[in-house]
Amino acid sequence: MKLLVLGGTKFLGRAAVEAALARGDEVTLFNRGETNPELFPEAEKLRGDRDGGLSALEGREWDAVIDPSGYVPRVVRASAELLRGSVGHYVFVSSASVYAEPYVPGFDESAPTVELENPESEDVIGDYGALKAACEQVVGEVFPDASTNVRAGLIVGPHDQSGRFTYWPLRISLGGPVLAPAPPEQLVQFVDVRDLGAWLVDAAARRVAGTFNATGEPIRLDTVLAACGDAELVWVDEQFLLDQGIGPWMELPLWVPREAAAFLQMSVAAAVAAGLRFRPVEETARDTLAWAREVGAGLVAETTYGNAGLDPAREAELLAAWLKRA
Ligand SMILES: NC(=O)c1ccc[n+]([C@@H]2O[C@H](COP(=O)([O-])OP(=O)(O)OC[C@H]3O[C@@H](n4cnc5c(N)ncnc54)[C@H](OP(=O)(O)O)[C@@H]3O)[C@@H](O)[C@H]2O)c1
Repeated sequence: MKLLVLGGTKFLGRAAVEAALARGDEVTLFNRGETNPELFPEAEKLRGDRDGGLSALEGREWDAVIDPSGYVPRVVRASAELLRGSVGHYVFVSSASVYAEPYVPGFDESAPTVELENPESEDVIGDYGALKAACEQVVGEVFPDASTNVRAGLIVGPHDQSGRFTYWPLRISLGGPVLAPAPPEQLVQFVDVRDLGAWLVDAAARRVAGTFNATGEPIRLDTVLAACGDAELVWVDEQFLLDQGIGPWMELPLWVPREAAAFLQMSVAAAVAAGLRFRPVEETARDTLAWAREVGAGLVAETTYGNAGLDPAREAELLAAWLKRA
């Protein structure tokens, strides 16, 4: 397959490019050359900017395009319209953040989505989900019946700069009592970037059309933590964590309070039927830890959405307060 990737050098796009090259696809990357430009010397590289600088894409043809770097409908429309007629299939990476609350356990792709309050908004942080939903509509309009709309859940694994999963294998590898959010049987949900990346390529090659929730099957938190290694886990009540002002999801990764728990219980039946496959969580944990050690990642990761990961001093304070109370 002749494959164009808009981006392709940071995390999910990077995993897709690796999967495509491993299959023997002929890959072209389009990006600004700012993020890891040394990667993939074997791929063709076109330089430009998605926002106003697409000329390098003109007059070319590809079997499919994967778009993991679209956040603003105006910008996504520009690439989709330019590529209409010159690529056979458009794979757009959207997000489970398109869904509106309240979430219902097992929700599928027909669940309601959020809408932009201000249609002119390009606030990619504040309006992330609604903007992704609007981008989805643009791609569906320009590539009817020739697009895959991939609503990704939490993506984890090597090269994840967000710290929202890496915290656990790293923390457990350090030993000592580990604060864990009760209950142990709560369900969490995430996908290894390499599994999702490979599926993006597969969906592009097979021209799988439609909208798909794309994450792992829900899995118990204690199973995930056991896969990260042996640990002395101290299960701490949700209310205690909330009373202490601990931030779900970011400050204490993978923790979602009961009222929003269904967000991590979406149905992935459609994507699995369309070929999405998952490696064992032990492999994800092991490889994530190896990568984190290699790059010297800390327990607290700085991201555009704030810090992720529990500061070790704060964890020690919380454990002491919890044990005194219990
Ligand atoms: N992480 C999660 O848990 C999660 C969950 C749900 C959905 N998602 C979605 O998954 C995707 C993750 O993407 P990724 O960042 O890992 O993709 P990626 O394709 O690996 O990296 C982003 C690429 O976009 C390029 N880029 C950025 N701005 C550009 C511009 N103005 N013009 C041209 N190229 C540009 C970057 O290169 P240059 O900087 O060199 O231009 C880089 O190659 C996103 O769509 C995100 O919303 C993520």
